[in-house]
Amino acid sequence: MASLLILGLGWAGEFLAELLDSQATDISYAATTRDGRNHTIPWSLGTDPSNVNVSRLPIAQTVLVTFPVLDPMVMKALIDAYDRKAGGASQWIILSSTRPFNSPGTNDRHSPLDRSQDPERIPAEDVVLARQGSVLHLAGLWGKQRQPKGWVGYFTTKDALKHKLLDRQLHLVHGKDVARAILAVHLGVQKYTQLRAQRWILTDQRCYDWLRLFLAWASNDQITILQHLLDYDQDIQKKWGRHQTLHRLVKEGLKPRLDSKSFWDSFGLVPTTFLAIE
Ligand SMILES: NC(=O)c1ccc[n+]([C@@H]2O[C@H](COP(=O)([O-])OP(=O)(O)OC[C@H]3O[C@@H](n4cnc5c(N)ncnc54)[C@H](OP(=O)(O)O)[C@@H]3O)[C@@H](O)[C@H]2O)c1
Repeated sequence: MASLLILGLGWAGEFLAELLDSQATDISYAATTRDGRNHTIPWSLGTDPSNVNVSRLPIAQTVLVTFPVLDPMVMKALIDAYDRKAGGASQWIILSSTRPFNSPGTNDRHSPLDRSQDPERIPAEDVVLARQGSVLHLAGLWGKQRQPKGWVGYFTTKDALKHKLLDRQLHLVHGKDVARAILAVHLGVQKYTQLRAQRWILTDQRCYDWLRLFLAWASNDQITILQHLLDYDQDIQKKWGRHQTLHRLVKEGLKPRLDSKSFWDSFGLVPTTFLAIE
């Protein structure tokens, strides 16, 4: 029996595979992709709950689902079929986003979920929780080819930049810390039953400010638009006051939107990889 089965060896899955490959432990794993590239098991989860096929999947203690499952009946059929094959209940982890944690102020894992933000994936996550599994709500993923410096260039229009001025918080977690977190959940829930059946928020415990990213990496045109918004846009002035500058706002700091302390404390870890904005 493998320790971990990674359903979907994509970006996050690869960080986990690298961590497991690098560790001198007995944590074995198997992984799937839809096309079976790089010696992975070719496997795909369809949309028909009556047609979920697990015959190719090896049995593992923990199954990690790295992609959104958009139908609770499909999730249920997958777990049922897998448990039948395994001859007992297996442990499940599913990755999700932090989008539904959008209450005003700082959200922790006990804050209300805005189900309308992810109406398709949340019901499938509920199935995982009902089976004593874990849901990891990941903040913005970065590492390797995903570099926040490269994201700055996406915001070129006045509207896009205004949106960022109004909503400045950026929460991130590096792929290496995602991998460490998944491994910790795999090991932790076996030891401590109170850690099972929980939703967790995962960030690097910092709150970055989009304005700092813009000051470091934006073009002159983008900076000009941002300052123009500060000088003339009523919504922006209502939020941040008149006669503001980008530098002053950055200095004043921000209240985080997300708080993931509970995750790191519960699993006895700390995040290790942070974005340097320079
Ligand atoms: N991007 C972000 O900043 C962000 C932030 C928070 C949370 N998230 C969430 O974090 C999770 C992991 O993200 P990621 O970037 O690692 O995803 P990814 O690179 O797209 O990897 C997903 C993997 O799942 C596989 N897959 C997708 N649909 C499948 C299906 N129907 N049946 C079987 N396999 C399927 C893909 O197969 P192939 O390799 O064959 O394509 C891929 O290996 C996702 O749930 C994502 O929504 C992302």
